[in-house]
Amino acid sequence: MAQKHNITMLGTGLIGLFYTMTLHGQRGRDRVSCVYSRDIDRAQGFARKWGIEHAVTDMEEAIKHSSSDVVIIGLPNHLHEEAVQICADANKAVLCTKPLARSAAEARRILDIVESSGIFGGYLEDLVYTPKTLKALESVRRGALGEILWTRSREAHSGPHSSWFWDIEQAGGGAIVDLGCHCIEIIRNFVGKDIRPIEVSCWADTLVHPIKAEDNSIALIRFENGAVGQFEVSWTFRGGMDLRDEVAGTEGTIWLNHFLRTGFEMFSSGAGGYVAEKAEQESGWLFPVGDEVHELGYTDMFTDMFNAMDEGREPMETIYDGYVVNAVIDACYRSAKSRKWEPVELEDWRGRTGVARMQGLKEKIDGLELVKRERLPNGEVKLILKDPGTGEVTQRVVEND
Ligand SMILES: NC(=O)c1ccc[n+]([C@@H]2O[C@H](COP(=O)([O-])OP(=O)(O)OC[C@H]3O[C@@H](n4cnc5c(N)ncnc54)[C@H](O)[C@@H]3O)[C@@H](O)[C@H]2O)c1
Repeated sequence: MAQKHNITMLGTGLIGLFYTMTLHGQRGRDRVSCVYSRDIDRAQGFARKWGIEHAVTDMEEAIKHSSSDVVIIGLPNHLHEEAVQICADANKAVLCTKPLARSAAEARRILDIVESSGIFGGYLEDLVYTPKTLKALESVRRGALGEILWTRSREAHSGPHSSWFWDIEQAGGGAIVDLGCHCIEIIRNFVGKDIRPIEVSCWADTLVHPIKAEDNSIALIRFENGAVGQFEVSWTFRGGMDLRDEVAGTEGTIWLNHFLRTGFEMFSSGAGGYVAEKAEQESGWLFPVGDEVHELGYTDMFTDMFNAMDEGREPMETIYDGYVVNAVIDACYRSAKSRKWEPVELEDWRGRTGVARMQGLKEKIDGLELVKRERLPNGEVKLILKDPGTGEVTQRVVEND
């Protein structure tokens, strides 16, 4: 039986707003009962707007507030560990936004705090919960794509909206830590979260903005079964927010476009105001998003988190997953610096070990391995065949219109 949860929301910035819009937007039973901001006017203004009973300016008081049984962390990255520690001390369930931490070492400490205290912990990685991604993951699990060979995940926009993101100490990095964390977890979900990420090759550079951290990056992540993940992230992309994923398997392909040009196009002279997150213009041809919090996965994410709490099970995205993501990110930074493939250092690996390399297609015809079958423009069907003994590759026309 689903229970009603009361939430302390830490932060009244962009993510605090999206999370509260999600929780209070429909006729859901779970409500924010206490909101924390350092600034009392901001806390009270937010509380008034969203019908929240308590507004406080002390983080510890907010976490320990008697009105709530769950804490959601929507604060800058450098405050996640401290907030989780107070939740553990208060014996309260905690849901932490992405990235879990600034480094794998910090993420590991957060994991230890949550697990040793026994509190419920969830990792708020919304982009694996988008309706399209959930459906795509179900298809992959049912075998619609065969073995997953390659997954590409891309997140790019013109850069974040608050100063702390641009400070490498508070954020822990640039576009990799901010956007790459989404991509890595999307890739892990498609490849299989029980398959170990082995090594990473990463390019990162600061091409445009006057900052210490990277504003662009591309990385390859190699998994134990031979699958490869590729992410592309940018804080310099112009034209809105580009959120796309591609999954390639031995039996099929999926292309996902979550945000730009998804079938909703509008022209306006500019009177309408806000269009969508990171949209750069409010006039001309626009690409609005129907129900932003739903399409970004927040609705299904909170449903899973609260159901997991009620059912005494783990959510789809755990604090451990956040730790694995941070370990991959650390390897990206080492690789970008060394310009070599770098191992993903996971002191605590809970997935499968010794997974065999995927075998690929193995159809045989007359003792020969089928490399390729193709119908040509003249109607012929041609087979490319390999002799497994000699290695000789031949071709055979089997059908003629
Ligand atoms: N899709 C997503 O899941 C998603 C999207 C955006 C942000 N985030 C994450 O949410 C977190 C917050 O990001 P945001 O976009 O809401 O940032 P933001 O700047 O919009 O809001 C941050 C909030 O924290 C407060 N804050 C800032 N510095 C503080 C300090 N030193 N002490 C106490 N409070 C402080 C601000 O006043 C504000 O309320 C980050 O970890 C970010 O990565 C996740």
